Amino acid sequence: MTTPRPLVAGNWKMHGRYSSSEEVNALVQMLRERPAQCDVLICPPFTLLMPFSNLIEGYGLSLGGQDCHHQSEGAHTGDISADMLKDAACSYVIVGHSERRKWHRESDKRVSEKAAMAHKEGLCAIICVGESGKQRDSGETLDVIAGQLKKSMPDDSVAHNTVVAYEPIWAIGTGRTPSVEEIGEVHGLIRKHLTGRFGLDGQSFRILYGGSVKPENAAELMSINNVDGALVGGASLKAADFNGIIEAYR
Ligand code: 13P
Repeated sequence: MTTPRPLVAGNWKMHGRYSSSEEVNALVQMLRERPAQCDVLICPPFTLLMPFSNLIEGYGLSLGGQDCHHQSEGAHTGDISADMLKDAACSYVIVGHSERRKWHRESDKRVSEKAAMAHKEGLCAIICVGESGKQRDSGETLDVIAGQLKKSMPDDSVAHNTVVAYEPIWAIGTGRTPSVEEIGEVHGLIRKHLTGRFGLDGQSFRILYGGSVKPENAAELMSINNVDGALVGGASLKAADFNGIIEAYR
């Protein structure tokens, strides 16, 4: 069995300006001084991809988009294609984030189509799944996650083109996280699904935890079985905080 190399990914959401280059420069410096035993990724807004691509070259830092369209091109005002992300030096794209599922009504099927398009263009798709607070309270978590995985992951998914991110919706931006046991349970289920569906390769997929990951809780969360890294929102915006999370892999 191959143990996956962990990934710590920052999802900047709708935050950041050109002036945030300072934070990226600071992060590059921190990684240069003290390299980490994990891959590091930032997913800034689309406008910052090109300028950031010049800052990170050669420092083991990767760039990703926060979404892509499920078609390769066409009359889709305001959308961005996987190929355009590739053209802007991205190697990853987040698909199916709960904020996209909620506010843009993205279905599991659509998420799967987006991931398939990302694969076609040579991007690694970070496919997000996660239950709501209500679903957690009514004991539906494992069923919800199993259903999302089944329908949101295209059949061409392999460990090197797909990352699964478990982000309980109620833990996003709230400062609340599931217990170590609860995270271990869901990640165990995800691993079981991956090996059941993709065989031995299922062992090599990275499964990230996301939702209120901070420098203070990163080491504990990252030590849970089948947690192969983090998808970080708020705490990825400042180099010092993000670096504090990466610290879990030094
Ligand atoms: P927070 O780390 O701000 O809770 O956000 C998590 C998230 O949604 C990352 O995609």
